[in-house]
Amino acid sequence: MKLRYKISGGILIFLVIAVAALGLVLGHNADCEAAPSIPGGSETMKAIVYRCYGSADVLNLEDIQKPTPADDEALVKVHAAAVNPLDWHYMRGTPYFMRLLSGIGKPDITRLGVDFAGTIEAVGKNVKAFKPGDEVFGGRTGAFADYLIVRETSAVVPKPADVTFEQAAALPIAAVTALQALRDKGKLQRGQKVLINGASGGVGTYAVQIAKSMGAEVTGVCSTRNVDMVLSLGADQVIDYKKENYIEQDIEYDLIIDNVGNNSLMANRRVLTPNGTLVMVGGSSGDWIGPLLTPLQALIMSPFVEQKFEMLLAEINHEDLNFLANLLHSGKMNSVIDRRYSLSELPDAIRYSEEGHARGKILIDMQ
Ligand SMILES: NC(=O)c1ccc[n+]([C@@H]2O[C@H](COP(=O)([O-])OP(=O)(O)OC[C@H]3O[C@@H](n4cnc5c(N)ncnc54)[C@H](OP(=O)(O)O)[C@@H]3O)[C@@H](O)[C@H]2O)c1
Repeated sequence: MKLRYKISGGILIFLVIAVAALGLVLGHNADCEAAPSIPGGSETMKAIVYRCYGSADVLNLEDIQKPTPADDEALVKVHAAAVNPLDWHYMRGTPYFMRLLSGIGKPDITRLGVDFAGTIEAVGKNVKAFKPGDEVFGGRTGAFADYLIVRETSAVVPKPADVTFEQAAALPIAAVTALQALRDKGKLQRGQKVLINGASGGVGTYAVQIAKSMGAEVTGVCSTRNVDMVLSLGADQVIDYKKENYIEQDIEYDLIIDNVGNNSLMANRRVLTPNGTLVMVGGSSGDWIGPLLTPLQALIMSPFVEQKFEMLLAEINHEDLNFLANLLHSGKMNSVIDRRYSLSELPDAIRYSEEGHARGKILIDMQ
């Protein structure tokens, strides 16, 4: 055998072993650790804690030490929080490649939840942006708890006085995702036709309303029981996916916001205008490389077609939170609340979210 074949064979075997080893390491679930003891005399608070990856059974409501804000920090009393699919991706540590960031074997950060609204209770001496009594909302890891620590640089902004804590807590991840999909990735223009696949979920209910406020002609895709709700949010047309698939219609859209990922890239192309854009928000399922396949296909196909395929990784920031808070304040947008749970019922709220059929947002009410 020629030397170069031997070398390529050796490299191939090495790569196969390396990928298999990485798969084994990433797929390994360490045992749940016991909660550490709390120093005597400390003030405590309730928080949802998970010390290993798994189903909602790994979530515990624990008494943990109440944090004290440092000089550049503020302490928030949380009044309401919201559940997102992101929470159970962190809880399960799937897709497995995300464990490179969230922790291999077990989570590095044991607190869960991002979206919240609450009241500033105390501030460190260097904090200028907040004062005790301020009502705020935003995104911060560990939102499923009585209290949270935030900084001025955190994605936290004032809550308009006439917006309820629930309405504000529902907003951050889902509405920022909808806004960034329509405005930044989709470059939506007044009068354009946009189709929102998954119009009845957290992202979809905001996307319908934001797209209408941007002057678009909106088609929502949802199941039969949600048709009236999506129409009531302002959609011009609704396609009931239980009766027909939008990719089989003879209508072309300037923009498709895909929160579901149930149709192939080629099928979506068929109902896009020649210069249209597909924004991939929710991907196809799978714990390993399944969620990466469509974006990879899009990357390969992009140089050869006029249509644009955009992958979104939403990022919560001050500017977008303020913009969206103003839409709530002005009455141009409403947070659609599906179910409410208490903090101790969070595992049930997560189980419900995992079913994938939320109608708007799932709220955690702390009061
Ligand atoms: N890329 C990002 O930065 C980003 C940010 C946030 C969320 N996401 C992802 O976006 C997706 C949606 O998030 P979400 O918060 O809106 O989830 P959600 O609140 O759980 O909503 C899911 C919605 O999908 C609908 N649905 C299910 N099957 C459908 C189908 N075949 N056709 C049309 N609609 C269908 C459900 O409606 P029915 O009950 O009527 O079936 C439900 O309303 C998730 O995969 C999430 O992980 C991505």
